[in-house]
Amino acid sequence: MGDEMTTPTSAQPGNEAAEALGVDDTHLQEAAKRHLWMHFTRMSSYADHDVPIMVRGEGPWVYDSRGKRYLDGLSGLFVVQAGHGRRELADAAARQAATLGYFPLWSYAHPNAIELSERLASLAPGDINRVFFTTGGGEAVESAWKLARQYFRATGQPGRYKVISRNIAYHGTTMGALSITGLPDIKAPFEPLVPGSVRVQNTNFYRAPEHGDDPEAFGRWAADDIEARIEMEGPSSVAAVFLEPVQNSGGCFPPPPGYFQRVREICDRHGVLLVSDEVICAFGRLGSWFGAQRYDYLPDMITCAKGMTSGYSPLGALLVSDRLMEPFLSGSASFSHGFTFGGHPVSTAVALANLDLMEKEDLVGNADRRAADFRAVLEGLRDLPIVGDVRGDGLFYGIEMVKDKATKETFDDDESERLLRGYLSGALFQAGLVCRADDRGDPVIQLAPPLVCEQEHFELIGEILRSVLTDAWKRL
Ligand SMILES: Cc1ncc(COP(=O)(O)O)c(C=O)c1O
Repeated sequence: MGDEMTTPTSAQPGNEAAEALGVDDTHLQEAAKRHLWMHFTRMSSYADHDVPIMVRGEGPWVYDSRGKRYLDGLSGLFVVQAGHGRRELADAAARQAATLGYFPLWSYAHPNAIELSERLASLAPGDINRVFFTTGGGEAVESAWKLARQYFRATGQPGRYKVISRNIAYHGTTMGALSITGLPDIKAPFEPLVPGSVRVQNTNFYRAPEHGDDPEAFGRWAADDIEARIEMEGPSSVAAVFLEPVQNSGGCFPPPPGYFQRVREICDRHGVLLVSDEVICAFGRLGSWFGAQRYDYLPDMITCAKGMTSGYSPLGALLVSDRLMEPFLSGSASFSHGFTFGGHPVSTAVALANLDLMEKEDLVGNADRRAADFRAVLEGLRDLPIVGDVRGDGLFYGIEMVKDKATKETFDDDESERLLRGYLSGALFQAGLVCRADDRGDPVIQLAPPLVCEQEHFELIGEILRSVLTDAWKRL
């Protein structure tokens, strides 16, 4: 099983097209190989391949340093909701940088952070009215765990410090967020991690160990595993449960019907906080502002980032209920936590402009309306022998690849290595599609196109996948 992103490589030779774009590709290639350390990347892949260098974007398209066009089927990294090249967002950033380039949120405020907190509170469900800004998703998750701990100390339950999350779920890479993450391979090099983080079953219905023919019974079973874990750990030691509305890692596991309602009941019964990690699922990805609204549950906290600015500037946030803020509103209390760049003036300006744009163009509604078309295109691939499952919601899907559809037999580590790294990642990229071939669970292809996409883009995704997956099957 792999522990890093599969690595698309660029194989086209020559610097001519690049020069026409005003880019010195030869120099960039050399400098990238010599100096740049790419994230979750097997750097050795680039010893005999070129680094894919993206220089420009427009709508759902991105262009590399040789001028080749790709459909961005992953919105960068589940980020670019509004599509690339949006002038409004660039202008908002420039205006703010010229007005007040930086000031912290440590004891001070600035108008954008205030307005954005008000706006997020109005979009968020229920009494989630307080916003603590970070610079990204992992920091938001880290902040949620720390807030849960300090909240319980402040309210006379100092023994509550543990957190529960699901197998194979990704929640970030800082030591706290990594401890909450359920991917053993990316944790192992950094052990020992933060104590007090334990795993439960996820909602992979395709591989349901029980109730594989009854989603509701499966949902009850998966939710009840959380209760069993709380009881095993001792309820008075458990602070919070971290769940994504649709779990990304493993290839898009939507919640079975009734799952979140039952989890909410369980959390309430045991006094445990429910954190909805919406770093991917918020801001229209599922056809709603927040995933909690899509599935009709009320968490105590929401972590979000990525789509809030459509990626035009980095920003994350922890959104919390009034109840959690209560102990910090009087006397000498304060949340002992912060980041220099959390709620940066430029990023919050971009977020406000992005929310304006999303509202004006009804991008959340677009994702909701087009979700069925996107699903239909991907479901259309089910006739391919390698396609075992197609699952997801909104504009967020995973396609699980199998060796045998009838038995659902998956690929062993060697086959997966050959299939994903040896062929699929490169072939999909060469065919002009940015997506993600991932084997952190069973091998999947993940898709999350920008919310501006239309039927023609979905069809192109379908065509490229059909051709490359057909070829992959022949090679097996
Ligand atoms: C659910 C979830 N939580 C947290 C994170 C970490 O976010 P970041 O990379 O911005 O730190 C991610 C990143 O993909 C994520 O998908």
